[in-house]
Amino acid sequence: MNVSELKSEFIKRYGEGPVAGFFAPGRVNLIGEHTDYNGGFVFPCALSFGNYCLIRKTGRPTVMFASLNMDFEAEVSLDNLDKPVGKEWVNYPIGVFAQFLKKGIRFTEGADMLFYGDVPPGAGLSSSAAIEVVTGVAINEMYGVGLPRVEIVKMAQKAEHEFAGVMCGIMDQFASGMGAKDHAVYLNCDTLDYELVPLKLDGVKIVIANTNSPHKLDSGKYNERVRECHAAVDALKPYKNIVQLADIQVDEFEALKDHIKDETVMRRARHVVTEIDRTRRAVDYLKEGNVEAFGKLMLASHHSLRDDYEVTGPELDAMFEAAVKEDGVIGTRMTGGGFGGCTVSLVKNEAVDEFISRVGAEYKAVTGLTPQFYVAETGDGGKRLF
Ligand code: GLA
Repeated sequence: MNVSELKSEFIKRYGEGPVAGFFAPGRVNLIGEHTDYNGGFVFPCALSFGNYCLIRKTGRPTVMFASLNMDFEAEVSLDNLDKPVGKEWVNYPIGVFAQFLKKGIRFTEGADMLFYGDVPPGAGLSSSAAIEVVTGVAINEMYGVGLPRVEIVKMAQKAEHEFAGVMCGIMDQFASGMGAKDHAVYLNCDTLDYELVPLKLDGVKIVIANTNSPHKLDSGKYNERVRECHAAVDALKPYKNIVQLADIQVDEFEALKDHIKDETVMRRARHVVTEIDRTRRAVDYLKEGNVEAFGKLMLASHHSLRDDYEVTGPELDAMFEAAVKEDGVIGTRMTGGGFGGCTVSLVKNEAVDEFISRVGAEYKAVTGLTPQFYVAETGDGGKRLF
């Protein structure tokens, strides 16, 4: 759906009058998985697809939430923008309004809002971060709040914690809010210092493969990993002064890991510590133009997510195995939270078509599921369109 079609949809639903349009992208993470809530590095890029929010202030004391993707709609009074509505999608935008209220921002008039997303939902490409960020950017501008973008990013993350119950790190919202076309975001999730690194991928494309596995990121498993990481920190604290897993280097970890008595917790921590190190090295390689070395670290990342962190599952592993043996594949791994969703691969231009047909066929033969492929186009972080 293009921008003028979206405008007509808005007018059809809410009537003639002025309307503003905003957009925030989904993301694909190239490397640095499950490191963000441990204060580590991540390296995602913003995509060209994401979530749109069309909005008009109305003077009425309610906010209307509707979506072209979902049937459920809600009209919420300005006094109730701090409470979830059942288990509905509207909790993402309401959760963002709630963060503005928490900051003491008062809304004296409501709005009509229409959302539309073209990120495949549940694919691990951050459709939820996109809707949170686009809402934050739209409110910030329409109501003249004027918060810096990074505040909006943090509020979007809080909305996810408080209204979706996922104790996520900041990667997705940050990529959606701060990403830039043809760049990846090299983010230190502890300090929020970041660098936009040009994606120098001469002759290589980023291919996203959606497993279409019905099992998507579930908050229970995700939050369990978060707790396991905290348990690892507690076990290591008597031996080294750390507050998070990013505070320990790989060699120190190797020397101290036997103090973590729970073997599962030790493996979770080993993934995080080694993944932070891989991310740092991978970004150095990319800056040197050594895409091959970057790709090898992607493979190591997948192995670690599969064996130590145990967030891959049969579908992501089947996609990985099908991809890894193809000619022209420089690197491949699961991306996002895991438990289904997508892999991301670096594939030589001339091999992309063959990759899609062969990996697709093999994946289907192994799992019985039909995958989808997207040759990723990067895009800019959240912005006003009109
Ligand atoms: C989800 C979370 C992110 C991050 C990834 C795993 O996408 O929202 O914060 O933890 O999983 O890297």
